[in-house]
Amino acid sequence: MKGIKNLSQIITLEGVHKKGGRRPLRGDLCIIENGSIVFDEDKILWVGSQKNIPKEYENIPFIDGSGHILTPEVVDSHTHLVFGGNRAREYGMRLDGADYQEIANAGGGILSSMKMTNEASFNELFESAKERIKKIHSYGVGTIEIKSGYGLNIEKEIECSRVIKKLKEFFSPQIQIFSTFMPAHAIPKTWSSPQKYMEDVVYPATEQAAKEKLFDAIDIFHEEGYFGSKITKEYLEWCQSKDFAIKMHVDEFNDNGGAEMAHNYKALSADHLLCVGKRGIKALSKSDTIATILPGTGFFLGKNQAPAKELIEQGAKLSIASDYNPGSCHCDNLILIASLAAPQLKLNLAEVWTGITYNAAASLGLTKQGVLVKGFRPRFSLFRAKIIDEITYNWGHNLANSDLLAQAFS
Ligand code: NIG
Ligand code: FE
Repeated sequence: MKGIKNLSQIITLEGVHKKGGRRPLRGDLCIIENGSIVFDEDKILWVGSQKNIPKEYENIPFIDGSGHILTPEVVDSHTHLVFGGNRAREYGMRLDGADYQEIANAGGGILSSMKMTNEASFNELFESAKERIKKIHSYGVGTIEIKSGYGLNIEKEIECSRVIKKLKEFFSPQIQIFSTFMPAHAIPKTWSSPQKYMEDVVYPATEQAAKEKLFDAIDIFHEEGYFGSKITKEYLEWCQSKDFAIKMHVDEFNDNGGAEMAHNYKALSADHLLCVGKRGIKALSKSDTIATILPGTGFFLGKNQAPAKELIEQGAKLSIASDYNPGSCHCDNLILIASLAAPQLKLNLAEVWTGITYNAAASLGLTKQGVLVKGFRPRFSLFRAKIIDEITYNWGHNLANSDLLAQAFS
C-alpha cells in the first residue's frame, strides 16, 4: 500500500465518468484541492482532501506530491511508432506544394515507410521504438497504442507485431502497451488488386497473428484508393466472427460512411474523422464507439480539422490522440498536440482532459482506468503545476514528472 500526499490538485474526472465521457464540463473534472491518494498495486483505495486522510492510512509510506497535480493517466490511443527510416524529404516536398496523395502516387507515403521498415532488422525496429516510447512516457503518457502496418507482407507484419509484443513485456507494468494489427494499412504496388492483397496477405497474416496472440485489436484504413467499403465490411465481418476487437481509420480524405460503419461493427473507435459528415456524426452521437480525433495530422498536413465540437455537442465520446507516425504526423507529444488543438477546435479543458485520459482509455477497452475514484486502477500522470490549466497553457514545455511517479510505485 502506498500514497501520494500534498498534491496541489487531484483531477478525479468523477463527473466525466458519471456522464460516460459525453459532453464534459469543467465541473465534471471534480477537482480536489490539496489532495492525497492511497492505492495498492491494483486499485485506488482512497482519494480525498489532505486533511481527511483516514486514520488507517496515516502511517503508510507517502510520497510528497507538493507542487504537483495528479491526473488520470494520459493515454495515447493512436500511434504508428514501429517504423524504419524517416520521411523528412517528403515533408520538404509537401512544403514545396505536393499533397499527401501526390506524394503517395510518386512512390512516397506509407509505401516508402514500408520499404524502409522491411530493410530494418527486428532489433533495429525494437530499439528505435523503445527510444520513442521512453520519450513519449517522459511527457506523462502511461498507456500507448501501437499499430503494425509498415510491414505490408505476412512476415514483416508478424515481425513488427512481435516487436510490439516484446516492447509490451519490456515496459510492463510502468508503461502499458496496446497492440493493434494493421496489415490493411496500404496496398503495395506488387498486388494486382486490393482483393488479392486481402486474400494473400491480410487474412492469413491476421490468422497467424491471432494464433500467436500478437494483437489486442485490428485496424483498417477505410478510404478510396486504400480499402474500399465492400472489402472493409467483409474483413470486419470476419473479424467480428472471430471476436477480434476493431479499430478503424475513417473519413480522413473523404466522407465515405466510415464512421457509420465503425458504429455498426461496434468498433472501439473511429479515428481521424476530418471529413465526417452529418450521418457519421449522428451515428457516433449515441454510440459507444469513441470518436478519436488526431489534430496533429491536420496541423502537419495543413488540412482542416475534424468537427470536434459538433461531435461533442451531438453526444459523441471524443478522444484525442497523436497519430505519431513518420509521414502524416511526426510528433510524439500528445500534450503539445492537445495544447494546440484546444483553441483551434474550441475545446474546453474538460473536453481536452477527457479526450486524453478517460475516453482515450475507453477507446482501448480500458474501462477500469481514466478516473481517480476508489476501486479504479491506480494509473496516473503527475505534472509540476498548481492548477490544471497550467499544463496545456505552457505549450511546448514538458511539466510531467515521470520520475516522481516511478518513485510512487517503487
Ligand atoms: O493515420 N491514414 C493512414 N495512416 C497514417 C498515415 C501513416 C503515414 O503516412 O505513414 C495516419 O495518418
Ligand atoms: Fe493512423
